[in-house]
Amino acid sequence: MTSDFSRCRRIWSNVRLATLDPTVAAPYGLLENHALGIRDGIIAAIAPAGAVESAAADAQIIDGGGALLTPGLIDSHTHLVYGGHRADEFERRLQGASYQEIAKAGGGILATVRATRALSEAQLVAQARPRLLALLEEGVTTVEIKSGYGLTLADELKMLRAARQLAREFPVRIRTTLLAAHVVPPEFACNPDDWVELICSDLIPRVAGEGLAEAVDVFCEQIAFNPAQTERMFTAARDRGLGIKIHAEQLSPTGGAALAARFGAWSADHLECLDEAGVQALRQAGTVAALLPGAYYFLRETRKPPVELLRRCRVPMALATDLNPGTSPLASLRLMMNLGCVLFGLTPEEALLGVSRHAARALGLYDSLGMLAVGRSADMLLWDLDHPAQLAGQVGTPRPLQRIFAGEITHA
Ligand code: NIG
Ligand code: FE
Repeated sequence: MTSDFSRCRRIWSNVRLATLDPTVAAPYGLLENHALGIRDGIIAAIAPAGAVESAAADAQIIDGGGALLTPGLIDSHTHLVYGGHRADEFERRLQGASYQEIAKAGGGILATVRATRALSEAQLVAQARPRLLALLEEGVTTVEIKSGYGLTLADELKMLRAARQLAREFPVRIRTTLLAAHVVPPEFACNPDDWVELICSDLIPRVAGEGLAEAVDVFCEQIAFNPAQTERMFTAARDRGLGIKIHAEQLSPTGGAALAARFGAWSADHLECLDEAGVQALRQAGTVAALLPGAYYFLRETRKPPVELLRRCRVPMALATDLNPGTSPLASLRLMMNLGCVLFGLTPEEALLGVSRHAARALGLYDSLGMLAVGRSADMLLWDLDHPAQLAGQVGTPRPLQRIFAGEITHA
């Protein structure tokens, strides 16, 4: 930590910092009556409020009036670019049909694949905008967006480009993930290995070459891809220097999380069926366990991820929306914080860490984002809140007083 405010261009004074910095001993890394200065979009100084006296004459000093400053929220797992909706399936599930039954009958992910293929890149962007905006308005400053509803070379690239376009339109950091292995495309139903081969030999090199994604994700599940196929794709991703993520142990135990851990994955996501060996594998690899309580809730699952074991083994837990049309059409990260506490038993502090520091790690951004500390990006939120636990304890209110993206005060 440094108290040199002389080179800071903008300073928030008289604020309470929920730093979430592990080197700050208090819960939430709380620092009362502090000041935080930024320069070039990066946090440059943090010190007790009195230290702002050393600020340069032309620095902008903002009196926070005792408000709470937190890191910007990070949604580390979304599928928010897609076409159409699946309200008909919602009705069928309420009448008793299961997610797997609907998928086997050609609905589910494949229904959204048809709708997504039918749209142009511009139309996809138009449909995604309100979803992204909903996240930004509640304080999200970084969002991961996956492909996976195109399932042809051209349509997967179209989805990733749509996500990149959103990043140009909004004050938000967008990280994209290639999820061409979301489900076997209908054209490859009889020879799924050929699709896997195409992903490895064509899509991954192309996406890496064009800088269209930072990571590769695989849905490792009985209704999607098996561990052997998953391993082939992870090998191709690693060879191209891409990060690795996995949808694993959601509906059945496949060993996918341990497999991903062997590849040094950034995160393993869902994990309702994760066993002890899987938890140990994540711990050893430093892989984040990304919990998605929206999908658990929306599918009325009963098996919960092993939160107590993950906690005991000190596996970092992220929380994300999994925003998608089938299992989590829920564009609220604050809601996920609440569900994470109420349904999975996280503490409000764990919930906040799950959408900040640990979410940054789940996106390979641990060194630059996710806490209020010198050297990190100044993505921050100013809140009219007495207690940081209110962020998980209530939904819908408050909205941030200020949303600061890379040091600039922005409106979503
Ligand atoms: O994360 N598990 C696979 N993918 C999504 C569901 C996508 C869908 O049903 O459209 C998920 O839950
Ligand atoms: Fe997902």
